Amino acid sequence: MTTLATPDTVILGIETSCDETAAAVVLGGNDILSSVVSSQIDIHARFGGVVPEVASRAHLESIIPVIQEAVHSAGIDPSRIDAVAATVGPGLIGALLVGVSAAKALALVWDKPFVGVNHMEAHLYAGLLDDPTLEFPLVVLLVSGGHTMLVEMIGHGTYRLLGRTIDDAAGEAYDKVARYLDLGYPGGPAIDAAAELGNPEAINFPRAMMHDGLNFSFSGLKTSVINYVRKNPDVSNIDVAASFQAAVVDVLVAKTIMAAQQVGAVGVVLGGGVAANSRLRAQLQSQGQLNGFRVAVPSRAMCTDNAAMIAAAAWHRLGSDGPTDMSVGANPNLALPVVA
Ligand code: KG4
Ligand code: ZN
Repeated sequence: MTTLATPDTVILGIETSCDETAAAVVLGGNDILSSVVSSQIDIHARFGGVVPEVASRAHLESIIPVIQEAVHSAGIDPSRIDAVAATVGPGLIGALLVGVSAAKALALVWDKPFVGVNHMEAHLYAGLLDDPTLEFPLVVLLVSGGHTMLVEMIGHGTYRLLGRTIDDAAGEAYDKVARYLDLGYPGGPAIDAAAELGNPEAINFPRAMMHDGLNFSFSGLKTSVINYVRKNPDVSNIDVAASFQAAVVDVLVAKTIMAAQQVGAVGVVLGGGVAANSRLRAQLQSQGQLNGFRVAVPSRAMCTDNAAMIAAAAWHRLGSDGPTDMSVGANPNLALPVVA
């Protein structure tokens, strides 16, 4: 443990891995002084998905104002910032480069350490940011547009991969089904809203690999939805959305509880963009408690991409590993560091 990360350490975090330009100032690893997120959702909506080149350009336009606003609304003088952190991967290379370059430039100008952060590790910290009293071991269900994994947090920086999707990520399934049903972009929130109005028991879609270990599969479910709608063109979209969502959430919740039981976890935590889903939040809360686990369901703002989680993860990495060498660059395929 280095002495670089103390309760007084102030970290400026920067996140530009996908379609959110974000900056945040966090004190002592969990006291959020400011968190600013500029979303590009409207820019990408007309393309029906994130266009990498468009994302990079939008990050370039927003990065300076977003950082300025984060520092300003934190109510501190920039000289109070002890380290500058940025997501180095995984993500879109052109998008990552904007945040990494900005962070390194500020670190050099201010003569402060740079900390390169793994985006997936940062998502793991969202739960602890919301509730610092959580104790290890924890099982985190990390569900985003690109990833679906069950991770055991054994301690700070020590993770074990318990399960993952063998095909589509949960968010990807939401986005693809929403596109097919013409519900709008991004798909997750659109299905979430439509499902509120529909009957989750209307159609019994398959719960893939339900009793088959801790891995997930969502591509068969997506195909089932498409086949069902083709065969039943008059079915209501809201019932399809609600039934699809019920199938996804049933599997996610059952496997999270199973994982927590297997490793003897104290609590279960939700993370990633899909963790903003209403049904998933409600079901994990009730099923987790029913099975005797502490349940941490972070605020929606902490579940989706933000820079407060980047600064929080950076505080722990600065403490354990010290500053990141300036030669470390953006890596679009960066994996979560896990133990065997
Ligand atoms: O973590 P995230 O913000 O970005 C990365 O993929 O890293 O996750 C974005 C994903 C998208 O697939 C989006 O459709 C999904 O999270 N999502 C949701 C909801 N809000 C966002 N999925 C289901 N229900 C939601 N309310
Ligand atoms: Zn993310």
